[in-house]
Amino acid sequence: MPAAPPLLIERDTSLRALNTLGLPAVAHTLVRIRSDADVRRVLDHPELGRAPKLVLGGGSNLVLTRDPAAVVLRVEVMGRQLLAADDDAWIVELGAGETWHEAVAWTLDQGWPGLENLALIPGTVGAAPVQNIGAYGIELADRFHSLDAVDLVTGRGVTLDARACAFGYRDSVFKQCADRGYFGGLAGKSLITRVRLRLPRPWQPVRGYLDLERKMAETGNHEPDARTIFDWVVAIRRAKLPDPALIGNVGSFFKNPVVSAEQCRDIIGRDPHIVHYPLADGRFKLAAGWLIDACGWKGKRIGHAGVYERQALVLVNCGGATGAEVLTLARAIQESVYGRFGIRLEPEPVVV
Ligand code: EPU
Repeated sequence: MPAAPPLLIERDTSLRALNTLGLPAVAHTLVRIRSDADVRRVLDHPELGRAPKLVLGGGSNLVLTRDPAAVVLRVEVMGRQLLAADDDAWIVELGAGETWHEAVAWTLDQGWPGLENLALIPGTVGAAPVQNIGAYGIELADRFHSLDAVDLVTGRGVTLDARACAFGYRDSVFKQCADRGYFGGLAGKSLITRVRLRLPRPWQPVRGYLDLERKMAETGNHEPDARTIFDWVVAIRRAKLPDPALIGNVGSFFKNPVVSAEQCRDIIGRDPHIVHYPLADGRFKLAAGWLIDACGWKGKRIGHAGVYERQALVLVNCGGATGAEVLTLARAIQESVYGRFGIRLEPEPVVV
Protein backbone atom coordinates (compact mmCIF):
# COMPACT_ATOMS: atom_id res chain seq x y z
CA MET A 1 0.00 0.00 0.00
CA PRO A 2 1.36 3.50 -0.79
CA ALA A 3 2.32 5.51 2.31
CA ALA A 4 -0.34 8.03 3.44
CA PRO A 5 0.58 11.60 2.44
CA PRO A 6 1.96 13.62 5.36
CA LEU A 7 -0.44 15.70 7.46
CA LEU A 8 -0.49 19.28 6.17
CA ILE A 9 0.24 21.26 9.33
CA GLU A 10 0.79 25.02 9.07
CA ARG A 11 1.85 27.45 11.80
CA ASP A 12 0.82 31.10 12.25
CA THR A 13 -1.50 31.08 9.28
CA SER A 14 -3.50 34.21 8.54
CA LEU A 15 -7.24 33.50 8.47
CA ARG A 16 -8.13 36.75 6.70
CA ALA A 17 -8.60 35.07 3.33
CA LEU A 18 -10.30 32.07 4.96
CA ASN A 19 -13.33 33.95 6.36
CA THR A 20 -15.71 35.77 4.02
CA LEU A 21 -15.98 38.82 6.30
CA GLY A 22 -12.23 39.21 5.72
CA LEU A 23 -11.57 39.68 9.46
CA PRO A 24 -8.01 39.60 10.76
CA ALA A 25 -7.03 36.60 12.90
CA VAL A 26 -4.19 34.12 12.99
CA ALA A 27 -4.36 30.37 13.56
CA HIS A 28 -1.38 29.24 15.65
CA THR A 29 -1.89 25.82 14.04
CA LEU A 30 -3.95 24.98 10.97
CA VAL A 31 -4.30 21.49 9.55
CA ARG A 32 -5.68 20.87 6.08
CA ILE A 33 -8.05 17.89 6.23
CA ARG A 34 -8.33 15.98 2.95
CA SER A 35 -9.77 12.69 4.21
CA ASP A 36 -11.34 10.94 7.20
CA ALA A 37 -7.91 9.43 7.82
CA ASP A 38 -6.41 12.92 8.21
CA VAL A 39 -8.85 13.60 11.08
CA ARG A 40 -7.79 10.41 12.83
CA ARG A 41 -4.13 11.28 12.33
CA VAL A 42 -4.73 14.66 13.98
CA LEU A 43 -6.39 12.88 16.91
CA ASP A 44 -3.44 10.47 17.21
CA HIS A 45 -0.92 13.33 16.98
CA PRO A 46 1.01 13.75 20.25
CA GLU A 47 0.70 17.56 20.27
CA LEU A 48 -2.61 18.15 18.49
CA GLY A 49 -4.62 15.12 19.55
CA ARG A 50 -6.12 16.51 22.75
CA ALA A 51 -6.09 20.22 21.88
CA PRO A 52 -9.44 21.97 21.29
CA LYS A 53 -10.44 22.03 17.60
CA LEU A 54 -12.19 24.60 15.42
CA VAL A 55 -13.64 23.22 12.19
CA LEU A 56 -13.39 25.68 9.30
CA GLY A 57 -15.20 25.29 6.00
CA GLY A 58 -15.51 28.30 3.69
CA GLY A 59 -15.61 30.68 6.66
CA SER A 60 -18.87 32.13 5.37
CA ASN A 61 -20.76 31.82 8.64
CA LEU A 62 -18.07 32.95 11.04
CA VAL A 63 -17.19 36.14 12.94
CA LEU A 64 -13.59 36.01 14.17
CA THR A 65 -13.12 38.40 17.08
CA ARG A 66 -9.69 37.06 18.13
CA ASP A 67 -7.02 34.54 17.23
CA PRO A 68 -8.62 31.14 17.87
CA ALA A 69 -7.11 29.29 20.83
CA ALA A 70 -8.07 26.02 19.10
CA VAL A 71 -6.26 24.09 16.39
CA VAL A 72 -8.03 25.03 13.15
CA LEU A 73 -9.09 22.10 10.98
CA ARG A 74 -9.69 23.41 7.48
CA VAL A 75 -11.90 20.92 5.63
CA GLU A 76 -10.65 20.20 2.10
CA VAL A 77 -12.22 16.79 1.42
CA MET A 78 -13.05 16.79 -2.29
CA GLY A 79 -15.11 14.55 -4.58
CA ARG A 80 -18.34 14.56 -6.57
CA GLN A 81 -20.19 11.46 -7.71
CA LEU A 82 -23.59 10.09 -8.56
CA LEU A 83 -24.31 7.20 -6.19
CA ALA A 84 -27.69 6.13 -7.54
CA ALA A 85 -30.31 7.12 -10.07
CA ASP A 86 -33.64 5.41 -9.70
CA ASP A 87 -37.17 6.33 -10.73
CA ASP A 88 -37.77 8.72 -7.87
CA ALA A 89 -34.41 10.40 -7.22
CA TRP A 90 -30.77 11.02 -8.04
CA ILE A 91 -28.48 10.53 -5.05
CA VAL A 92 -25.34 12.65 -5.33
CA GLU A 93 -22.36 12.51 -2.98
CA LEU A 94 -20.13 15.55 -2.49
CA GLY A 95 -16.93 16.07 -0.52
CA ALA A 96 -17.35 18.54 2.35
CA GLY A 97 -14.59 20.77 0.98
CA GLU A 98 -16.28 21.31 -2.39
CA THR A 99 -17.51 24.86 -3.00
CA TRP A 100 -21.30 24.82 -2.61
CA HIS A 101 -22.12 26.97 -5.64
CA GLU A 102 -19.77 25.04 -7.94
CA ALA A 103 -21.36 21.79 -6.78
CA VAL A 104 -24.84 23.18 -7.52
CA ALA A 105 -23.73 24.24 -11.03
CA TRP A 106 -22.12 20.82 -11.59
CA THR A 107 -25.31 18.90 -10.70
CA LEU A 108 -27.24 21.01 -13.21
CA ASP A 109 -24.57 20.45 -15.89
CA GLN A 110 -24.88 16.71 -15.30
CA GLY A 111 -28.65 16.89 -15.83
CA TRP A 112 -29.64 16.39 -12.16
CA PRO A 113 -31.73 19.45 -11.22
CA GLY A 114 -33.09 20.25 -7.77
CA LEU A 115 -30.54 22.57 -6.15
CA GLU A 116 -31.05 25.59 -8.47
CA ASN A 117 -32.83 27.72 -5.83
CA LEU A 118 -29.74 27.39 -3.62
CA ALA A 119 -27.35 28.86 -6.22
CA LEU A 120 -24.64 31.34 -5.21
CA ILE A 121 -24.82 30.68 -1.47
CA PRO A 122 -21.25 31.23 -0.26
CA GLY A 123 -19.43 28.49 1.61
CA THR A 124 -18.66 24.81 1.32
CA VAL A 125 -20.74 21.65 1.00
CA GLY A 126 -19.75 20.59 4.53
CA ALA A 127 -21.04 23.84 6.03
CA ALA A 128 -24.41 23.57 4.28
CA PRO A 129 -26.01 21.13 6.75
CA VAL A 130 -24.56 22.91 9.80
CA GLN A 131 -26.86 25.86 9.41
CA ASN A 132 -29.33 24.19 7.05
CA ILE A 133 -28.77 26.78 4.32
CA GLY A 134 -31.89 28.00 2.59
CA ALA A 135 -33.07 30.42 -0.07
CA TYR A 136 -35.98 31.05 -2.42
CA GLY A 137 -38.29 28.46 -0.95
CA ILE A 138 -35.86 25.55 -0.43
CA GLU A 139 -33.72 24.48 2.51
CA LEU A 140 -30.89 21.98 2.42
CA ALA A 141 -33.09 19.69 4.56
CA ASP A 142 -35.50 19.40 1.59
CA ARG A 143 -32.74 17.84 -0.55
CA PHE A 144 -30.79 15.99 2.12
CA HIS A 145 -30.09 12.26 2.13
CA SER A 146 -27.32 11.68 4.72
CA LEU A 147 -23.81 12.71 5.69
CA ASP A 148 -20.59 11.20 6.96
CA ALA A 149 -18.76 12.78 9.88
CA VAL A 150 -15.84 11.90 12.11
CA ASP A 151 -16.12 12.20 15.88
CA LEU A 152 -13.45 14.65 17.04
CA VAL A 153 -12.75 12.76 20.26
CA THR A 154 -12.91 9.09 19.32
CA GLY A 155 -12.06 9.38 15.60
CA ARG A 156 -15.00 7.11 14.83
CA GLY A 157 -16.83 7.63 11.53
CA VAL A 158 -20.60 8.05 11.73
CA THR A 159 -23.37 8.38 9.14
CA LEU A 160 -26.29 10.65 10.03
CA ASP A 161 -29.68 10.81 8.31
CA ALA A 162 -31.93 13.89 8.29
CA ARG A 163 -33.61 12.94 11.56
CA ALA A 164 -30.29 12.65 13.37
CA CYS A 165 -29.25 16.05 11.97
CA ALA A 166 -32.31 17.67 13.66
CA PHE A 167 -32.64 20.35 11.00
CA GLY A 168 -34.49 23.56 11.87
CA TYR A 169 -34.56 27.06 10.44
CA ARG A 170 -30.81 27.87 9.98
CA ASP A 171 -30.18 25.23 12.62
CA SER A 172 -29.08 21.62 13.11
CA VAL A 173 -27.57 19.28 15.69
CA PHE A 174 -24.16 20.66 14.60
CA LYS A 175 -25.03 24.08 16.09
CA GLN A 176 -26.40 22.67 19.34
CA CYS A 177 -24.15 22.31 22.39
CA ALA A 178 -24.47 19.15 24.46
CA ASP A 179 -23.75 21.14 27.62
CA ARG A 180 -26.66 23.50 27.05
CA GLY A 181 -29.16 20.80 27.83
CA TYR A 182 -29.71 19.65 24.27
CA PHE A 183 -29.09 15.94 24.40
CA GLY A 184 -26.73 14.84 21.68
CA GLY A 185 -25.72 18.35 20.49
CA LEU A 186 -22.69 18.05 18.21
CA ALA A 187 -21.33 21.63 18.10
CA GLY A 188 -17.55 21.38 17.96
CA LYS A 189 -17.68 17.61 18.37
CA SER A 190 -17.58 16.29 14.84
CA LEU A 191 -16.22 17.10 11.41
CA ILE A 192 -18.42 16.51 8.36
CA THR A 193 -16.50 14.86 5.51
CA ARG A 194 -19.16 14.00 2.89
CA VAL A 195 -22.75 15.00 2.19
CA ARG A 196 -25.27 13.03 0.13
CA LEU A 197 -28.15 14.85 -1.48
CA ARG A 198 -31.40 13.43 -2.77
CA LEU A 199 -32.73 15.21 -5.84
CA PRO A 200 -36.31 14.08 -6.43
CA ARG A 201 -37.51 12.84 -9.83
CA PRO A 202 -39.44 13.98 -11.71
CA TRP A 203 -38.06 17.47 -11.10
CA GLN A 204 -40.62 19.98 -9.82
CA PRO A 205 -39.79 23.69 -9.88
CA VAL A 206 -40.06 25.67 -6.62
CA ARG A 207 -41.06 29.12 -7.80
CA GLY A 208 -43.51 30.48 -5.20
CA TYR A 209 -41.01 32.95 -3.69
CA LEU A 210 -41.93 36.59 -4.36
CA ASP A 211 -38.65 37.46 -6.13
CA LEU A 212 -39.06 34.48 -8.49
CA GLU A 213 -42.71 35.38 -9.19
CA ARG A 214 -41.47 38.84 -10.15
CA LYS A 215 -38.99 37.30 -12.61
CA MET A 216 -41.79 35.22 -14.17
CA ALA A 217 -43.93 38.34 -14.57
CA GLU A 218 -41.02 40.38 -15.98
CA THR A 219 -39.95 37.76 -18.53
CA GLY A 220 -43.39 36.28 -19.29
CA ASN A 221 -41.79 32.84 -18.71
CA HIS A 222 -44.13 31.03 -16.32
CA GLU A 223 -42.66 27.57 -16.93
CA PRO A 224 -38.95 28.15 -16.20
CA ASP A 225 -36.64 25.14 -16.41
CA ALA A 226 -34.03 24.48 -13.72
CA ARG A 227 -31.29 26.35 -15.59
CA THR A 228 -33.51 29.44 -15.90
CA ILE A 229 -34.33 29.37 -12.18
CA PHE A 230 -30.60 29.01 -11.45
CA ASP A 231 -29.85 32.07 -13.63
CA TRP A 232 -32.67 34.06 -12.01
CA VAL A 233 -31.49 33.23 -8.47
CA VAL A 234 -27.93 34.22 -9.41
CA ALA A 235 -29.21 37.53 -10.82
CA ILE A 236 -31.46 38.25 -7.80
CA ARG A 237 -28.67 37.51 -5.34
CA ARG A 238 -26.13 39.60 -7.30
CA ALA A 239 -28.56 42.53 -7.29
CA LYS A 240 -29.12 42.62 -3.55
CA LEU A 241 -26.29 40.76 -1.83
CA PRO A 242 -22.64 41.85 -1.87
CA ASP A 243 -20.07 39.49 -3.43
CA PRO A 244 -17.86 38.39 -0.50
CA ALA A 245 -14.85 38.41 -2.85
CA LEU A 246 -15.31 42.19 -3.16
CA ILE A 247 -17.06 43.26 0.06
CA GLY A 248 -16.62 41.07 3.14
CA ASN A 249 -19.90 39.66 4.52
CA VAL A 250 -21.56 36.50 5.85
CA GLY A 251 -24.92 36.85 4.09
CA SER A 252 -27.80 37.45 6.49
CA PHE A 253 -26.31 38.40 9.84
CA PHE A 254 -29.50 37.73 11.82
CA LYS A 255 -32.21 35.09 11.59
CA ASN A 256 -35.71 36.20 10.68
CA PRO A 257 -37.46 36.24 14.10
CA VAL A 258 -40.55 34.12 14.76
CA VAL A 259 -43.31 35.64 16.91
CA SER A 260 -46.73 34.58 18.19
CA ALA A 261 -49.87 35.62 16.30
CA GLU A 262 -50.69 37.99 19.17
CA GLN A 263 -47.26 39.66 19.09
CA CYS A 264 -47.52 39.97 15.30
CA ARG A 265 -50.96 41.64 15.51
CA ASP A 266 -49.58 44.03 18.10
CA ILE A 267 -46.67 45.04 15.85
CA ILE A 268 -48.87 45.38 12.75
CA GLY A 269 -51.16 47.64 14.83
CA ARG A 270 -48.22 49.98 15.32
CA ASP A 271 -46.47 49.38 11.99
CA PRO A 272 -48.92 48.22 9.30
CA HIS A 273 -46.19 47.80 6.65
CA ILE A 274 -44.14 45.19 8.49
CA VAL A 275 -43.21 42.24 6.25
CA HIS A 276 -44.50 39.02 7.86
CA TYR A 277 -45.10 35.45 6.71
CA PRO A 278 -47.54 32.97 8.34
CA LEU A 279 -46.02 29.67 9.50
CA ALA A 280 -47.79 26.30 9.60
CA ASP A 281 -47.91 26.34 13.42
CA GLY A 282 -49.91 29.62 13.57
CA ARG A 283 -46.92 31.81 14.42
CA PHE A 284 -45.39 34.43 12.10
CA LYS A 285 -41.91 34.98 10.72
CA LEU A 286 -40.91 38.65 10.46
CA ALA A 287 -38.41 40.02 7.93
CA ALA A 288 -35.42 41.04 10.06
CA GLY A 289 -34.10 43.10 7.11
CA TRP A 290 -37.30 45.15 7.19
CA LEU A 291 -37.06 45.70 10.99
CA ILE A 292 -33.42 46.88 10.71
CA ASP A 293 -34.23 49.03 7.70
CA ALA A 294 -37.18 50.60 9.58
CA CYS A 295 -34.77 51.58 12.35
CA GLY A 296 -32.78 53.56 9.78
CA TRP A 297 -29.66 51.36 9.65
CA LYS A 298 -29.30 50.82 5.90
CA GLY A 299 -25.93 52.17 4.71
CA LYS A 300 -24.88 53.20 8.26
CA ARG A 301 -21.44 52.45 9.70
CA ILE A 302 -19.77 52.04 13.05
CA GLY A 303 -16.00 52.21 12.60
CA HIS A 304 -15.11 49.99 9.64
CA ALA A 305 -18.21 47.80 9.87
CA GLY A 306 -21.36 48.76 8.03
CA VAL A 307 -24.91 47.81 7.02
CA TYR A 308 -25.13 46.99 3.32
CA GLU A 309 -27.00 49.72 1.44
CA ARG A 310 -29.17 47.29 -0.56
CA GLN A 311 -30.04 44.73 2.16
CA ALA A 312 -30.15 45.80 5.80
CA LEU A 313 -29.81 42.19 7.00
CA VAL A 314 -26.25 42.00 5.67
CA LEU A 315 -23.39 43.48 7.68
CA VAL A 316 -20.27 44.27 5.70
CA ASN A 317 -16.58 44.89 6.22
CA CYS A 318 -16.09 48.37 4.77
CA GLY A 319 -12.34 47.72 4.69
CA GLY A 320 -10.09 46.98 7.65
CA ALA A 321 -12.87 46.05 10.10
CA THR A 322 -12.16 43.89 13.14
CA GLY A 323 -14.52 41.26 14.53
CA ALA A 324 -15.06 43.48 17.58
CA GLU A 325 -16.29 46.31 15.34
CA VAL A 326 -18.71 43.97 13.57
CA LEU A 327 -20.06 42.81 16.94
CA THR A 328 -20.39 46.39 18.21
CA LEU A 329 -22.48 47.21 15.14
CA ALA A 330 -24.54 44.03 15.55
CA ARG A 331 -25.27 44.87 19.21
CA ALA A 332 -26.27 48.43 18.36
CA ILE A 333 -28.71 47.07 15.75
CA GLN A 334 -30.12 44.53 18.21
CA GLU A 335 -30.67 47.28 20.79
CA SER A 336 -32.45 49.61 18.41
CA VAL A 337 -34.71 46.85 17.01
CA TYR A 338 -35.52 45.77 20.57
CA GLY A 339 -36.17 49.35 21.61
CA ARG A 340 -38.61 49.98 18.77
CA PHE A 341 -40.28 46.58 18.24
CA GLY A 342 -39.57 44.62 21.45
CA ILE A 343 -37.95 41.87 19.35
CA ARG A 344 -34.58 40.29 20.03
CA LEU A 345 -32.66 39.50 16.84
CA GLU A 346 -30.56 36.37 16.98
CA PRO A 347 -27.27 36.31 15.01
CA GLU A 348 -26.92 33.62 12.33
CA PRO A 349 -23.11 33.21 12.23
CA VAL A 350 -20.91 31.54 14.81
CA VAL A 351 -18.82 33.99 16.86
CA VAL A 352 -15.28 32.95 17.84
N1 EPU B 1 -36.49 44.16 3.35
C1 EPU B 1 -36.53 45.51 3.58
N2 EPU B 1 -35.35 46.16 3.75
C2 EPU B 1 -34.16 45.55 3.68
C3 EPU B 1 -34.11 44.15 3.47
C4 EPU B 1 -35.30 43.47 3.30
O1 EPU B 1 -37.59 46.11 3.63
O2 EPU B 1 -33.13 46.21 3.85
C5 EPU B 1 -37.74 43.44 3.11
C6 EPU B 1 -37.80 43.02 1.63
O3 EPU B 1 -38.35 44.02 0.84
C7 EPU B 1 -38.67 41.80 1.68
C8 EPU B 1 -38.36 41.21 3.04
O4 EPU B 1 -37.74 42.22 3.82
O5 EPU B 1 -40.03 42.14 1.63
C9 EPU B 1 -37.48 39.98 2.98
O6 EPU B 1 -36.28 40.27 2.29
P1 EPU B 1 -35.59 39.22 1.29
O7 EPU B 1 -36.58 38.63 0.36
O8 EPU B 1 -34.36 39.86 0.75
O9 EPU B 1 -35.17 37.99 2.21
P2 EPU B 1 -34.64 37.92 3.70
O10 EPU B 1 -35.73 37.44 4.59
O11 EPU B 1 -33.96 39.18 4.07
C10 EPU B 1 -33.93 35.40 3.54
C11 EPU B 1 -32.74 34.60 3.95
C12 EPU B 1 -31.65 34.71 2.88
C13 EPU B 1 -32.19 34.21 1.58
C14 EPU B 1 -33.43 35.03 1.19
C15 EPU B 1 -34.11 34.47 -0.05
C16 EPU B 1 -32.69 34.53 6.36
C17 EPU B 1 -32.06 35.06 7.62
N3 EPU B 1 -32.25 35.06 5.24
O12 EPU B 1 -33.52 36.77 3.53
O13 EPU B 1 -30.58 33.88 3.28
O14 EPU B 1 -31.23 34.31 0.54
O15 EPU B 1 -34.41 34.98 2.27
O16 EPU B 1 -34.72 33.25 0.27
O17 EPU B 1 -33.52 33.62 6.44
C18 EPU B 1 -28.53 33.86 4.52
O18 EPU B 1 -29.10 33.12 5.33
O19 EPU B 1 -27.33 34.20 4.64
C19 EPU B 1 -29.30 34.39 3.40
C20 EPU B 1 -28.79 35.29 2.56
